[in-house]
Amino acid sequence: MQTIATNHTAPVHTEDFLPLQGTDYVEFYVGNAKQAAHFYKTAFGFQSLAYAGPETGVKDRASYVVRQNKLTFVFTTPLRSHNAIADHIYQHGDAVKTLALRVDDARDAWQQTTKRGARSYMEPNQITDEHGEMVISGIHTYGDTVHLFIERKNYHGAFMPGYRKWESLYNPVETGLQYVDHCVGNVGWNQMNRWVKFYEEVMGFRNILSFDDKDISTEYSALMSKVMSNGNGFVKFPINEPAEGKKKSQVEEYLDYYDGEGCQHVALATNDIVTTVTALQERGVEFLKVPGSYYDELLQRVGDIDEDIEPLRRLGILVDRDEEGYLLQIFTKPVEDRPTLFFEIIQRKGAKSFGKGNFKALFEAIEREQELRGNL
Ligand code: FE2
Repeated sequence: MQTIATNHTAPVHTEDFLPLQGTDYVEFYVGNAKQAAHFYKTAFGFQSLAYAGPETGVKDRASYVVRQNKLTFVFTTPLRSHNAIADHIYQHGDAVKTLALRVDDARDAWQQTTKRGARSYMEPNQITDEHGEMVISGIHTYGDTVHLFIERKNYHGAFMPGYRKWESLYNPVETGLQYVDHCVGNVGWNQMNRWVKFYEEVMGFRNILSFDDKDISTEYSALMSKVMSNGNGFVKFPINEPAEGKKKSQVEEYLDYYDGEGCQHVALATNDIVTTVTALQERGVEFLKVPGSYYDELLQRVGDIDEDIEPLRRLGILVDRDEEGYLLQIFTKPVEDRPTLFFEIIQRKGAKSFGKGNFKALFEAIEREQELRGNL
């Protein structure tokens, strides 16, 4: 609830019309869900949770659900061609399809958003099995990406009706990843403000930070970004659009290879970034590297931090400070062959920002990769 000061004597309370409890799961449409699930278990330390497919009565697809603490990923592949999932993969490659949000009332979430102009993706749908009932509804957002509203307060099964518990003999240890910190969308030229307005008007989010092309440009890789947050701050969606630079913007490269607007990166929180990133690197996750000189002036820029510099330098972890504290972050290379989706690993120590002080070093690292791909 927000309190707004007015000329009247009593303050006016405005209810958050779309109260969100956080990210419920992220669903990826992929060419081979069995192998994708294996990769996220092996490389990122996710645990087997649930499965749906022909054996559970789902005839057109197979879905593998993996979990680590409050992070749940679903990998879905079509079993035949010529359907919406297969078309999505043909156009976009392996990609984020669904950013699912936990709500107390999925019927109301759908009503509140569609009456404010959201395009319906799924009307409220009650599904049940012997473990209880869930209600799911959904709306479209940028590109072919959708938001599902997940109401699971009356459900006690492994994941949702239609899925069975997935028991595996292969259970690599976790890497300390905790929850989704934020998910970034890349949208087309001059489309950022359209989607800012969508999140404001349709979903009741606020714009909490903005970066223009002066903040976010090196010589080449310009972009603009606005960070949208829901009322309680549990769900944050930065929206990027490309900006004119000397050469091709990293967002433009994404839009070309993704063939449209879509999710650029998902930021995964950890409580101990040195331990997490050490484990991820040992398991083969590849990260962007900044030059060693980044660390020579780090303490002058950010002041005292709890961590030793040496492991940060060795692993390539970046640090930034704002008025409320500091944060540590690092970015993977794209996790598929198209230069599209990647992950950020982030540890917040008070800071609520997104690492603006690292943009220059980071984007120069991205440009070196773009150059290697011949796309700069
Ligand atoms: Fe990020």
